Amino acid sequence: MNTFSKKIMITGGAGFIGSHLVRLFVNNYPAYLVVNLDALTYAGNLENLRDVEGRVNYVFEKGDILDEARIGELFGKYQFDAVIHLAAESHVDRSIKDPLAFVRTNVLGTVTLLNACRQYWGKDMKGKLFYHVSTDEVYGSLGETGFFTEETAYDPRSPYSASKASSDHFVMAYHHTYGLPVVMSNCSNNYGSHHFPEKLIPLMINNIKNNKSLPVYGKGENVRDWLFVEDHARAIDTIFHKGNIGDKYNVGGFNEWKNIDLVHLLCRIMDKKLGRPEGSSAKLITYVTDRPGHDLRYAIDATKLNRELGWKPSLQFEEGLEKTVDWYLQNEEWVRHVTSGDYQHYYADQYAKR
Ligand code: NAD
Ligand code: DAU
Repeated sequence: MNTFSKKIMITGGAGFIGSHLVRLFVNNYPAYLVVNLDALTYAGNLENLRDVEGRVNYVFEKGDILDEARIGELFGKYQFDAVIHLAAESHVDRSIKDPLAFVRTNVLGTVTLLNACRQYWGKDMKGKLFYHVSTDEVYGSLGETGFFTEETAYDPRSPYSASKASSDHFVMAYHHTYGLPVVMSNCSNNYGSHHFPEKLIPLMINNIKNNKSLPVYGKGENVRDWLFVEDHARAIDTIFHKGNIGDKYNVGGFNEWKNIDLVHLLCRIMDKKLGRPEGSSAKLITYVTDRPGHDLRYAIDATKLNRELGWKPSLQFEEGLEKTVDWYLQNEEWVRHVTSGDYQHYYADQYAKR
């Protein structure tokens, strides 16, 4: 274990963004030990990481961030130098149905991890880092113009964003009160492979493929700022290595789309890929009851991250979206496992007997 130059716990590594980040770190940093701690909720899927399973610098540990004893055991076992914290309940619609689940994982879970860092890192926290991965939704909702900057006041409006905002405040409070070395980033909507098909883009791809209706909330006029997930993972890598302790960085692609325009674009791409007559998928669009408290517009100003640390997105949206559609069409088994629940047996088959 001591042969590794850094031992890093990535929480939520079996999820959408977490799995891309784990892959990036395992592949790019053979000198680091990457320990993926994940409770494997409905959103966690070890099939996302098949390609790095068995690598010498990668370990999966099943565990809940709320479980103090389990977290303590892992800190004792691996002597972590850093935590990159992504584990969360992440879906706004679920947070409207069950806010407490979001308070437990996103708020109490984050504080449990912060306490473990304090306890195990002691007074000499030199070289240690707690990296908190957060969202642009903490800033609330924009009108037709303007951008979220790092100075924008927090104004969360859904139970999900309120729980993430709370966790952000705890992270900064532990920095100011206890001197915990922290860094944080707030990112806009991600898209790409391995995205759970309850979220807009993978849901629409799956429904178009299966000729099912495409539920657009309200009038479809809400705007989101989309970033390719691998670009987000690169941003986290950059901030992890070069970010200022105690600072926060906004991450986004300067890539705003009205939901309805995005769904039409997906329909056009899918018609082409599936060899369907132009316009046939768009006929599946159905306007449905709006999400309660639906934020109108998110738009991130990522200038600070670009100017100070040199990060910028690598892909144009149309290119990233085509790649994403291709991945879903080529990975029908993954989609089938996720929609049937079969992926939840993967852990039992691959890991439990070890
Ligand atoms: P996800 O829902 O795909 O994955 C979450 C992961 O966390 C899953 O693997 C799940 O099993 C794990 N998890 C949940 N509760 C846990 C617990 N109590 N203990 C241990 N593991 C637990 O989420 P995602 O979309 O990959 O988002 C990851 C992080 O990035 C979240 O913190 C989210 O708020 C943030 N974020 C997401 C986006 C986005 O567009 N998806 C944008 C900005 C920020
Ligand atoms: O902005 C970052 C956030 O982006 C992350 O913090 C969240 O974890 C992530 O889930 C995402 O939140 P959104 O609510 O923006 O994503 P979602 O895919 O659920 O919805 C995107 C937009 O599409 C939103 O305006 C609601 C709308 N929508 C969504 C679904 C699932 C529909 O119109 N129909 C749908 O069926």
